[in-house]
Amino acid sequence: MASQVLVAANRGPLSYALDAEGALSARRGGGGLVSGLSAALAQQPDTLWICAALSEGDREAVRRGVAEPGVRMLDIDPEVYDGAYNGIANSVLWFTHHHLYDIPREPVFDAEFRRRWGAYTEYNRAFAQALAQEAAEGACVLVQDYQLALVPGLLRELRPDLRIAHFTHTPWASPEFLRMLPDDIRAQLLWGMLGADRLGFHTRAWAADFVRGAGIDDASGTAEGVWPSGGAPGVWHRKAAPDGSGLLERRFTEVAAYPLGVDADELRALAHRPEVDDKLAALRAEVGDLKTIVRVDRTELSKNVLRGLLAYRELLAAHPEWRGRVVHLASAYPSRQDLEVYRRYTASVRELADEINAEFGEEGGWQPVLVSVQDDFARSLAAYRMADVALVNPVRDGMNLVAKEIPVVSEQGCALVLSTGAGAYAELRADALTVNPYDVTATAEALHTALSMPAAERAERTKRLAAAATALPPSRWFANQLTDLRAPTGPAGD
Ligand code: G6P
Repeated sequence: MASQVLVAANRGPLSYALDAEGALSARRGGGGLVSGLSAALAQQPDTLWICAALSEGDREAVRRGVAEPGVRMLDIDPEVYDGAYNGIANSVLWFTHHHLYDIPREPVFDAEFRRRWGAYTEYNRAFAQALAQEAAEGACVLVQDYQLALVPGLLRELRPDLRIAHFTHTPWASPEFLRMLPDDIRAQLLWGMLGADRLGFHTRAWAADFVRGAGIDDASGTAEGVWPSGGAPGVWHRKAAPDGSGLLERRFTEVAAYPLGVDADELRALAHRPEVDDKLAALRAEVGDLKTIVRVDRTELSKNVLRGLLAYRELLAAHPEWRGRVVHLASAYPSRQDLEVYRRYTASVRELADEINAEFGEEGGWQPVLVSVQDDFARSLAAYRMADVALVNPVRDGMNLVAKEIPVVSEQGCALVLSTGAGAYAELRADALTVNPYDVTATAEALHTALSMPAAERAERTKRLAAAATALPPSRWFANQLTDLRAPTGPAGD
């Protein structure tokens, strides 16, 4: 039966593993996007979620016709998938939107890049075709993230009757960074996004970066971003018809911010399961009654784990009174290990933590840093509960839900040291200690202030942080986008 509401995301709610006997077992897919969407869709039971088969287990599940209700997995050729996911989404678009390039050496847009871009286009086309097949007349389609940036444009060509939204979970590149892409590729990327009726971002800052960088004037048409003082921001565009029959009607793509928050009740319930109590007891036994600085991240270049450790080292050097009185619990679990630069980064994190322990640690006694590389959500929740200070210092980050989760769960209230580059900064800055993520000395001083903050002030600030963090829980975040997508787009100031 054709669906009225469809979601498309690279990762699905489940992934399958194949055991030695050939049996398939399902487990929940990883990452922030999946947990946010899964929570949102629990309230929208008739939604179809289209995703890619990521592993051999997933491909086998597709071949055997194993599927959860409400999920369709696409078995995309592994080479095409690798070019699209590793080659473009994670190596080019992720780096562009997070400003991660080591400019003297990167990026290099050569023939190999063009081959990968072809794979990225093919992978996006597979999603557009599946959505076109599955959608009912006039259905709403909500496409997720930079892996699928071309889907709205490709889908609109196939099914002009649909209402199409796209949501970006990362930042959007500033116009200067976007202009690093070859001109024709930048135009393809923008035309892909502008196929949508509505574009969503976590913050107004990322929405504004999109609107500022959306200008196009090429053989296929023109586009111009507008941000009127009273009306809706967005992009006016006019694209030549593919059949050469002249210009299509002028269209407007509206751009809006939907800052994803956390579901307080659900998170607190998760954080008080017996499994988490056990992990908490184990951590307490290890740390004793010392103060804790907690961070939990994928070992992701944008998370700035190295400068966080450098700041902690500077704290111990500049404020020796903290030696022996604080432990930095750094959960930095490996991510994207298919990419060499991530493997090197992960190794550097471990080396730096070892150096700090060697420099300040006491033999058989106090160890200043405890690094955990296991992706263990129960242990992370236990660390949240005992956090005196939360350190969230990404260089640039779409939202960063950890900054919202820790204040909701911490038992004694925590002081939040928060980067100005995190999307969460927009909502949490009033009660956080905010830092320029590149300024290691300022971060060290913020850690000192956080550790010294009187308990009553910490508790008050945490209460307000938790209120801000839970303002738009996933179910409402999604429902609001769906309501807005169903409403006709109405630009002001035409
Ligand atoms: C995080 C980001 C998302 C992104 C996802 C991809 O959750 O916030 O923007 O889509 O990572 O992670 P993956 O492991 O699927 O590449």
